[in-house]
Amino acid sequence: MVELLPSILSADFAHLAAQIAAAERGGGTAIHVDIMDGHFVPNLTLGPPVVASLRKATRLPLDCHLMIDNPNEYIAAFAEAGADWVSVHYEACPHLHRTLQLILHHGMKPGVVVNPATRVDIIVEILPMVHHVLVMSVNPGFGGQEFIPFSLDKIRQLARIRRELKLSFKIEVDGGVAHDTVAAVVQAGAELLVAGSAVFGAGQPERDARTLLAAARKAANSKTAVRKSKIHS
Ligand code: DX5
Ligand code: ZN
Repeated sequence: MVELLPSILSADFAHLAAQIAAAERGGGTAIHVDIMDGHFVPNLTLGPPVVASLRKATRLPLDCHLMIDNPNEYIAAFAEAGADWVSVHYEACPHLHRTLQLILHHGMKPGVVVNPATRVDIIVEILPMVHHVLVMSVNPGFGGQEFIPFSLDKIRQLARIRRELKLSFKIEVDGGVAHDTVAAVVQAGAELLVAGSAVFGAGQPERDARTLLAAARKAANSKTAVRKSKIHS
């Protein structure tokens, strides 16, 4: 089942509660929150106080994508603020297993993120302990960038590893997910679709979430139809 996770990075920050409510009406089922520290990525966004305010504004899970150095130092604060899912970058965690344990210990769902230039097979050992793997399909730091096509191979490879190892983590994709790319992303095997500018960029989050999700569902249904026809032929 594909899900749409609107990324508030491209929302109007003066009206976050209303923007999130609109994206939810359009079919968003979790809110993607981009946390940037100006070190790991060349941009700054927000921290635990804003997550605490978002927590009061929506019942949807808050999917916090930490693009920060030393994430261990902030896990407790994000738990306290009400984060539900917390993902950390492979590239920012020298002791990734320990960091994921810390997230679990605080009662949140852990995810691991890989940058475009990072191979997915490098995280095989920790896959049994994650709720989701986030494949970056742009270099992290900014919304509105162009989708990197080789990300599709990485999604396919992860889906294959998941099948072979009989695991149940979800595959999330983040960056450049829009009308022209969403079908390929879903057909490659991703089910958690993060979208920032495609949902909020035109100022019509309800309408644009709805049409993007409809396109994603259509691609997912045609994928299921192809699989069924293969089984019966
Ligand atoms: C980029 C962020 C994304 C961003 C995606 O570093 O992680 O979540 O919001 O924006 P779009 O969907 O515009 O590419
Ligand atoms: Zn993100």
